Amino acid sequence: MTESMVASTIAGPGALAGGGLDAHDAEASSRPADAPLRELYARYSRPQLMAVLSAIGLDVIYERGQGDYLYYRDDRGHEVAVLDLLGGFGASLFGHNHPRLVSCATRSLRELRPFNAQASVRSASALLAYRLSQRIGAATGRDYVTTFASTGAEVVEAAIKHAELERRLGGDRLLQRLRHENVRARRAVATGEARWEAASFERALGVSALGPDASPREVAQALLSIAERELGKPGTVLALERAFHGKTTGALRLTHNPEYRAPWRCFGHALFIPAGDVAALQRAVQAATVVLPLVTLGDDGLVRLQDMPRVDVVALFVEPIQGEGGIHELSLDYWQAIRAVADSAGFPVVVDEIQTGMGRTGRFLASEALGARGDYYLLSKSLGGGLAKIAALSVDSERYQPDFGYLHTSTFADDDPSSLIALAALDLLEERDGALLRACSNKGEYLLGKLRALQEAFPDVIRAVRGRGLMVGIELALSAPASAFLRLLCAQNLLGFMVAGYLLHEWKIRLAPALSANGTLRLEPSAGVELAELDRYCLALETVARLLRDEDTLTLTSFLFPEEARKERPRPARARRPASWPAASAGKRRAAFLAHFSVATDLQHFDPAFATLGESTCRQVLDKLSTTLTPFHLDSFQIASMDGGRVDLAVIALPFTSAQVATALREGRAEWALDHVRAGVELAKELGCDVIGFGGYSSIVSDNCRAIADDELVLTSGNSLTVAAAIDTMFAAADAHGIGTRRLGVVGATGNIGAMMAELAASEVSHTTLVGRPGAARRLEALAARLPGSVSVATDLNALRECNVIIGASNAPAPIIAAQHLSHENVVICDVAVPRDVALEVELERPNCRVLKGGSVRLPLEQRLDNRGLMIDGDAVYACLAETLVVALAGIERNFSFGALRGADVREVRRLALQHGFSFEGAARRQ
Ligand SMILES: Cc1ncc(COP(=O)(O)O)c(C=O)c1O
Repeated sequence: MTESMVASTIAGPGALAGGGLDAHDAEASSRPADAPLRELYARYSRPQLMAVLSAIGLDVIYERGQGDYLYYRDDRGHEVAVLDLLGGFGASLFGHNHPRLVSCATRSLRELRPFNAQASVRSASALLAYRLSQRIGAATGRDYVTTFASTGAEVVEAAIKHAELERRLGGDRLLQRLRHENVRARRAVATGEARWEAASFERALGVSALGPDASPREVAQALLSIAERELGKPGTVLALERAFHGKTTGALRLTHNPEYRAPWRCFGHALFIPAGDVAALQRAVQAATVVLPLVTLGDDGLVRLQDMPRVDVVALFVEPIQGEGGIHELSLDYWQAIRAVADSAGFPVVVDEIQTGMGRTGRFLASEALGARGDYYLLSKSLGGGLAKIAALSVDSERYQPDFGYLHTSTFADDDPSSLIALAALDLLEERDGALLRACSNKGEYLLGKLRALQEAFPDVIRAVRGRGLMVGIELALSAPASAFLRLLCAQNLLGFMVAGYLLHEWKIRLAPALSANGTLRLEPSAGVELAELDRYCLALETVARLLRDEDTLTLTSFLFPEEARKERPRPARARRPASWPAASAGKRRAAFLAHFSVATDLQHFDPAFATLGESTCRQVLDKLSTTLTPFHLDSFQIASMDGGRVDLAVIALPFTSAQVATALREGRAEWALDHVRAGVELAKELGCDVIGFGGYSSIVSDNCRAIADDELVLTSGNSLTVAAAIDTMFAAADAHGIGTRRLGVVGATGNIGAMMAELAASEVSHTTLVGRPGAARRLEALAARLPGSVSVATDLNALRECNVIIGASNAPAPIIAAQHLSHENVVICDVAVPRDVALEVELERPNCRVLKGGSVRLPLEQRLDNRGLMIDGDAVYACLAETLVVALAGIERNFSFGALRGADVREVRRLALQHGFSFEGAARRQ
């Protein structure tokens, strides 16, 4: 990127388009802008997010927003309007840039209202706090003291802090009381005015864990220390399963989705309880109850020990409708139980209305609809009209701790412009007798009605429709689709995102799945959305439902293809439904094979819907998707051996092609591929497999399995059988072609397979030529020194012209042996490389050359794997896959073909394979 591009980029997207910020109606122009902006975003801001966005076609640059529409420019510079049903995750209740709010913002700028007047009376925030107290109070009959901040997560943090302050001050008061009573009793005993009641003293001794000689004074002091210690411990914060409260350090502890918390698990987390389960709530409160030892002096002059239970819950956080958790509303019964439990235990209930509040559900607070009362209320998102960054923590004034106002501050909180916009937003809600709230409610009913009808028509695609007002969720669920691609999307929580990409590109509708429930499409349009727009959405969703029911993945994903490839879209073929993965059973071993896309066109086999896609389209699609996919359980088979043994085989697809791994290795990014291999091994373990075979590049990147540290698994690169089968096949074909004096050429001779093949075959030929990459001469020489007979080395493929028996065993990502490298006499080439080393045209141009697919093995009893591509080849299978099965069937308990190959292993696996009924060309002739 050039300096000038950076400069114009900084000036804004409009500037790059050639027209400044007002350029939305500019003439269509060729746009150099978007690509560099994407590059900057990917490189300097959010690399992985950008990869995901571009994988599913959401990497659009919006230039302006108005009402329910966002606008971007297409490649030709034409403005495209997109109906925005994502609505800023609920922040755009008033639509984008509502004119009244914009004019409020511009007026406050024109009037030079202060942003920064900290440590003074903030008039606009005073008014706003008053208005919020009134609004919330109208539902609860109470007064509220409000602390302002800039974002949702920030007020969640503030709520945690305030609740902790309440708890701490309450604890301090309690300790004072305990101390007072303890000292009073101790003194009275010391002066002889009182004495311990005998039974109580016995118990106190036990509680204090002091010996029988301890004095009454020591016992009382120890009990006080116990109480101090208990009250000094952190309390329990309760939150609900599926909860989302934000992603800052403190808020994250209350956000349930383990994916968001996993990297920061050392921060700890709240105690999550299942929403709606009253018994679980009671159990959690019980578990958080500590018993404090209270020493009392009675009027009868006796000192006693009493148990004082204290519920040590800091607060319970709830969302009335769990938004990011997939639009789940709490029930009235549950609310009532929460209120009763919290009142009796004394902890505050924090109602997070950040997404639900400000009228979206048809009431100012969603919790109002259920007559529920909280102690703290959180608002943000639409509070600032989607324009100002503002958030509020409103605490019931009876609970509010006055010190909080100076203990908790933030530079940008309480500023005039944000508060004025929030006041204007409240005005919009209230005017015309709450017409906006009624609109949310009525339009929501209309939308929910239509969606429920759709659900009835497509129950196999739409599992549920949930919501209230304009906060609606549609849960997609496909039950075991035959299409591998759909299964992949479902398994990896990508179905909702793919649907979002489709709707954006084909229907110009923007939405997203809920953050913690990716199978649920979440709709949060503005209150101004037209019914016709909701109709259009329902029509689009009906189309999606039909595509999913028909498993038409080609149409669903065609927005990912280049323009030319979109034109030809024949009706896609139906996929075969894979066998289900059986439950473990005694005496049957479970093996997994890690396969990957050998070439991009494997995508055609992966899902028959893609059968007509050309090579370059397959490549582009895989290049896009591979950044977001993780290893995937593609297929399951049950394989029997000739001797009656059985093995369950899980094929695990690693989301990369050979070419992508070769590039990664060249660029020093081997870890990227190795991470996928490791994740594939983990998935295999989850499936209960204890034998794992490494196909293709997975053995290369894992240094022939050595990079996997797991001594409970049997690992194999499968390369020994590859070598055994290839040698037999090659020499049998050489005999069949009348090649008497064999001159062997080994391409890729420094590799694990090439070197072992050379070692085992050299004694059966008159001369061996070892061919390697330029730069490999020294390693070739070292190998040559170990081989029997006449041997030479070469780093130039032309050396093959002297050879009539050739092994292709390089790990080049594309063919390297061409016709010009070969002799005009009869030649047999055994190509074991995946992808292949020999160019396709060799057989066409050189009828004298017989090219054999090396390393191909037939399964016992004429079984076949009904799948093609991804290193599974239909009638025959790759030898590395066959070796995985042999290791499992033969009950081998050690790693096999692990690291450098050994001649003894090659011979052993060959014997075992034949014994179990596997076969390959030439095996019979060379018995
Ligand atoms: C219920 C709820 N609480 C808290 C937050 C966090 O808000 P923010 O993203 O402004 O930090 C969100 C955001 O989606 C939310 O939906």
